[in-house]
Amino acid sequence: MAAYDSTARLRRVPVAQPGFVEELSDSEDDNIFVPRPEKVTTATTTATEAAATPTETQEAAPSKPRKSRKKRLRVEEEDDYSPYLDIVRVVTFLLVASCGVSYLVSNGESYFWGMKNKPDYLKLSWWKLQYNGPKYLTLDELARYDGTNPNAPVYLSINGSIYDVSAGRHIYGPGGSYHYFAGVDASRGFVTGCFAEDRTGDVRGVEEMFLPLDNPEIDSYWTPEELAKKKEDELHEARKRVQGAVKHWSEFFRKSTKYSYVGQLVRELGWEGELKPLCKVAQDGRGFRTSPKEED
Ligand code: HEM
Repeated sequence: MAAYDSTARLRRVPVAQPGFVEELSDSEDDNIFVPRPEKVTTATTTATEAAATPTETQEAAPSKPRKSRKKRLRVEEEDDYSPYLDIVRVVTFLLVASCGVSYLVSNGESYFWGMKNKPDYLKLSWWKLQYNGPKYLTLDELARYDGTNPNAPVYLSINGSIYDVSAGRHIYGPGGSYHYFAGVDASRGFVTGCFAEDRTGDVRGVEEMFLPLDNPEIDSYWTPEELAKKKEDELHEARKRVQGAVKHWSEFFRKSTKYSYVGQLVRELGWEGELKPLCKVAQDGRGFRTSPKEED
């Protein structure tokens, strides 16, 4: 253990010990006791002050520690080097360059080489969604995005999922052929085709449109038991068709490259209200069962 005299302790300079001094001279830059040049000549030191104590400054600023310090900094920098940063730089450059070339080649039409089904992560809307998270809107809030406000986006909902369809404002905005779908969840209308009447997400009873009408003459081909079983199968099939139609349009919007997912509709329990009768157009589209004779 190194011994210290009392004055040396005050000066924070260790007493010279054989061995100990030698060790210091090897790595004097790591020694916190060695005075640093910049601590003596600080930025606030005036020229007069510096001139007044020239010997002090000269003595306190030996050139050797400066050099070794630089060397040490360089070594530290080399230690900090990470190849991942370079990889990120190169990949980013290639992506940006690819987008730029695609934009030029496609005459400003596409940044991604005209890809039709580009992955979600190549869409700006997907990144926005990751950053902002999904929106949760009530029916009243959704109604504000029906396209009547030219400064607001146009939203529609299907099966509770909300999509931004602003890219099709001419279709969904006022005067567009599918304006009925904007600002609402019109899942029912998507199935029945009654756009004006069925601006609701309530699809209860819609399966009726796929159920054949009873006809005593045709139905007499089956025994009452056979007919009951047949009707059961028909109901099962009709429900599947409703689900299929909703799924078809849901996927149309979800997979669309023009439109983007926004969030979910928040509806209170019992939002459906009273059971709606099947709209006239859908009702008129119903036919009779096919008799076994006709099937042959
Ligand atoms: C249940 C029935 C129907 C539903 C739910 C439906 C739904 C839709 C939807 C959502 C679009 C917009 C696609 C987009 O955003 O790009 C569309 C476009 C279109 N539909 Fe229908 N449709 C139905 C029946 C029909 C029928 C019967 C016709 C023909 C008489 C028709 C003709 C068109 C046309 C021409 C377009 C293109 C509109 C445009 O780009 O301006 N649709 N349909």
